[in-house]
Amino acid sequence: MTDTTDAASAGTPAEATRAPGDDRPYSPGLEGVLAGETALSKVDGANGRLTYRGYRIGDLVAHGTYPAVANLLWTGEWDPKARLATAAVPDQVMAAIRALPATAKPMDALRTAVSAWGATTGPTYPPTVEQARALTAFSPSALAAFARLREGKEPIAPDPSLDLVEGFLFQLNGERPDPATARALDAYFIVGAEHGFNASTFTARVVTSTNSDIASAVCGAIGTMKGPLHGGAPSEVVDQLSKMGSVEHAEEWLRGALDRHERLMGFGHRVYRAYDPRAAALRKVAEGMEHKPDWLQLAIQVEDMALRLLAEKYPDRPLKTNVEFYAAPVLMGVGLSPDLFPATFSLARHAGWTAHALEQAAANRLIRPDVRYVGPDERDLPA
Ligand code: COA
Repeated sequence: MTDTTDAASAGTPAEATRAPGDDRPYSPGLEGVLAGETALSKVDGANGRLTYRGYRIGDLVAHGTYPAVANLLWTGEWDPKARLATAAVPDQVMAAIRALPATAKPMDALRTAVSAWGATTGPTYPPTVEQARALTAFSPSALAAFARLREGKEPIAPDPSLDLVEGFLFQLNGERPDPATARALDAYFIVGAEHGFNASTFTARVVTSTNSDIASAVCGAIGTMKGPLHGGAPSEVVDQLSKMGSVEHAEEWLRGALDRHERLMGFGHRVYRAYDPRAAALRKVAEGMEHKPDWLQLAIQVEDMALRLLAEKYPDRPLKTNVEFYAAPVLMGVGLSPDLFPATFSLARHAGWTAHALEQAAANRLIRPDVRYVGPDERDLPA
C-alpha cells in the first residue's frame, strides 16, 4: 500500500502508482493537469509573461487602477475610470470581528469576517458582478477594523470619495495616504489580483461548482491561501533580509542557506522559468516609492547575488526572482506590518477569486474528480 498523505504534506511529489485494471494517468498535486478553462488570465511561465484578458500586466500596472482591473476581470470591459470604494462593515459583522481575540491571525479574522458577511447579507447562487463588487469592497474595511481593534483603537468608517486601496490605508491608519504610497499599494493589488488556477482560486471554483454562494467560495479561498506554501512568502523575505543585516554579510548568509539546502524566499516558481513579470513591475514601483524601507537597496543587491548563486548551484534549473521578493519592500514601504501581508494579498486576490466564481457559474459542471484507491483489497471484518 502506498501512503500518499505524508508525501503530499511534505510537498514532495508522490511516486505514481498503478492500480490493477486502472491505468489512467495520475499526477500528484495535479501538476501539469488541465483542470478547466479560463478567459481571465494567461500565465506563460516559459516566457515570463502574464496577461489579464489579453492585456499585459506591465501595461495594467502603468496605466490602470485596481478598480479598473477588477472591473476588467468581472466584466471583460476595459474602463480606466471604473471606481470602487471600500464598503461599510454591517453591525452584526463588526460584532463578530470585535468578539475575536487580539491574538487571532489576520487571515483567520478575514475569513471569519467574510463568513459573517455571507451569513448577514445572504448572497445566493449564481454569483453576480454586484456580489463580487460588494464583497471585494467589504473585505478591506473588515481587515482594517480588525487591525485597529487588536491595538485597542476604534474602527474607521469608509470614505466613499477614496478608491479601494486608498480607502483601505485610510481605515487602517486613520489618515489619508500620500498619493505615491497609495499608488504603490494599488500596483501591488493589480499584480496580486489574478493568477490562473493557483490553489486558492481552484478552491473558489470547486466551492462555486456545487452551486454554493460567493462568500463560501471566498472563505474557502482564504483558508487555502493561509497555508505558507501559498500566501506566506513576502514576510519570510523580510525575515531573511533582516537576518543578512547588511550587504557585507549577505553573500556569506546566502551561501550558508544554500549549503543547508534552505530555500531563498522570493526566488523560484512552480510555473515561471523566466523572470516573473510581476516582480519586474513591482521593482519599478518599489524604486519609485517615497517611503522606501531602509533595506530596499539591500534587497536590490541581494537579488543579484542570489540569482548568481542559484545559477551556480542549479545550472540546469532556471530559478529567477518571483513576485514576492519585491512585494515585501512595497508592503513594508506602505507601512504594513509583516503579519498583515498574507491578508493583504487576499484582499488583492478577491478580484480574481470572484471573477473565477462568475466564470465557473456561467458554464458550470460540478468539479468532482476520481481518486485512485490504494487501500487493502475487500476483506472480512475480524471475527
Ligand atoms: N531557493 C533555493 N533552492 C530552490 C529554490 C529557492 N527559492 N526554489 C527551488 N529550489 C531548488 C529546490 O530545492 C530543488 O532542489 P533539489 O532538486 O536539490 O531538491 C530545485 O531547486 C528544483 O525546485 P523546483 O521543482 O523548481 O521547485 P518547486 O516547483 O517544487 O517549487 C517554489 C516552487 C515556489 C515552491 C520554490 O521555488 C520555493 O520554495 N521558493 C521559495 C518560496 C517562494 O518564494 N514562494 C513564493 C512563490 S510565488
